Amino acid sequence: MTAPVTVAIDGPSGSGKSTVSRGLASALGLAYLDTGAMYRAATWWCRRQGVDLDSADAVTAAVAVMPLEMGIDPAAPAVVCDGVDITAEIRGSDISSIVSVVATNLDVRAELRERQRAIIAAERRAAGFSEGRGIVAEGRDITTVVAPDADVRILLTADEEARLARRARELHGSDDPDSLAATHAEVVGRDARDSTVSTFLTAADGVVTIDSSRMDAARTLEVALGVVEQVRQEQ
Ligand code: DC
Repeated sequence: MTAPVTVAIDGPSGSGKSTVSRGLASALGLAYLDTGAMYRAATWWCRRQGVDLDSADAVTAAVAVMPLEMGIDPAAPAVVCDGVDITAEIRGSDISSIVSVVATNLDVRAELRERQRAIIAAERRAAGFSEGRGIVAEGRDITTVVAPDADVRILLTADEEARLARRARELHGSDDPDSLAATHAEVVGRDARDSTVSTFLTAADGVVTIDSSRMDAARTLEVALGVVEQVRQEQ
């Protein structure tokens, strides 16, 4: 690899975004940014501060001063807020069930968008000193709003059945009918709420769609690596 590269990946829950993004970053020696974790951290922070989530203004004010440090190592992307390592805690159902309230607050989105752009810009600058660095950033509005100028933009999709089965195995260890039913509300319901403020279900102009419905994680990563290589050769 000869020049810094910014890869932006978006897509719905269960499309394999995180697995592919971390795999790409590791394989290409790039940094990694999980923007969804920033919305999760913002939700954790509001709760810790005792903020009433029904008050959009209070949520906005709290997130504006959130002391968040995002780890960008794809092997171990730690999330630290106010000195507390919340990497594992923000994945829990407590946060998953309410994160949409924070993620659909447009002022919060504006604040986090600027923080995300700053992290991406810093990695691109760092790339000038260490050949081959750059960043893979994932999240639902990354290819369209946060980093529309990324070198490579990918929309990772999968049909609803595949996405539900993956999330059910992740959350409940099985994709039997009970686990699928329990997962349905979370995955489909959350995507429906989130789609009111971000467009991650259809590819914008210049964005390459990868449908992972019939591919396992290793094959999806292979295809994504192929897309990155092809775009870089065309540059
Ligand atoms: O990808 P995830 O499940 O960790 O995302 C957590 C929440 O944040 C989810 O409701 C989608 C939302 N999100 C967003 O609105 N914009 C992003 N760039 C990333 C995540």
